[in-house]
Amino acid sequence: MLRYLTAGESHGEYLSGVLEGFPSGVRIAPEYISAQLRRRRLAPGRSARQAIETDRCEVLSGLGGGATTGAPIALLIKNSGRRPPTPSSLPRPGHADLPGMLKYGTLNAVQVRERASARETAMRVALGSFALRLLELLEVKIRSRVVSLGSRPVTTAKDAADRLLRARRDGDTLGGVFEVTVENLPAGLGGFAQWDHRLGSRLGASLLGINGVKGFEVGGGFALAALGGRAASGDLSLSGGLDAGMTNGRALTLRCAVKPVPGLPGGALSTDLRTFRKELSVSKTSDTSAVFAAAVIGEHAAALELASALLEKFGGDSLPELRRRLDEWRKDTGKILRRL
Ligand SMILES: Cc1cc2nc3c(=O)[nH]c(=O)nc-3n(C[C@H](O)[C@H](O)[C@H](O)COP(=O)(O)O)c2cc1C
Repeated sequence: MLRYLTAGESHGEYLSGVLEGFPSGVRIAPEYISAQLRRRRLAPGRSARQAIETDRCEVLSGLGGGATTGAPIALLIKNSGRRPPTPSSLPRPGHADLPGMLKYGTLNAVQVRERASARETAMRVALGSFALRLLELLEVKIRSRVVSLGSRPVTTAKDAADRLLRARRDGDTLGGVFEVTVENLPAGLGGFAQWDHRLGSRLGASLLGINGVKGFEVGGGFALAALGGRAASGDLSLSGGLDAGMTNGRALTLRCAVKPVPGLPGGALSTDLRTFRKELSVSKTSDTSAVFAAAVIGEHAAALELASALLEKFGGDSLPELRRRLDEWRKDTGKILRRL
């Protein structure tokens, strides 16, 4: 089983993370991790402030001679040139600020938002890049795409860029839906004997754990509710690769709805918790949309869960051991699945 934790604040000196339970023998270059971080940081819809961040990730432990050793992997990302913000008692609507201030008994919203910020997802991507690399070496292909931006489907990159530019000029922000697909997963990952063995519940928890993600579906998802049983069972792709919490040998399809970024350049009305006066909470440096970046984070969040499920089923302290067992399983189950 894989376990991971992150720590660090948005304007703190570092983000840190630890990944435990990862097998030995997985070769991973520092450039591989940087490339994943760059995909998140420079995704369409992000604000200009992202271009000045570097997201250089240091591997502090768990690597030897360019490959994992089986020891816990500790990572560090230094935040570049960030001044800590001045304390504020004005909560930003749609953010962690108000419930977080009540929860921790503070009149300083900055104390809450520093940790609640989506900056933390940089570390989730760095940790997830190890899982992504492991899946890649086991010939499991994971991809993401943005299906819709605002109320309309995304047709081309140019169309999306134009709509993001228009929203930014109008002082607005956009939500959207992203999809993660995974091919060549072995059948039988996950389980049904307890609710938390179900792979769908684990993937849902992981993807709903991404800031701003408000909806999650597997395969046909919400649309399935409107179909008759004949139509629903006639189309095998509607299962999205999971039956009763287990992979069924077909491609896995997950979708997430991302809300529009709540930070608006024109401001949103809020109440100062010190004075109880109404004031505008203005976000000049906010992203226009988080959906493209969230898609990248979603790939890594899913990869961490899937790598964990693979290790639970097949065990293996090293990559060769895991691969041997997986190859044998693929051969045995393939004999049956190919005849269906
Ligand atoms: C990569 C990423 C970047 C984000 N950037 C911003 C931003 O610049 N401004 C903002 O107001 N919200 C941003 N968000 C969304 C907030 O983090 C999110 O709305 C907030 O955590 C509360 O959402 P929740 O209710 O889903 O937890 C971003 C989210 C992600 C995943």
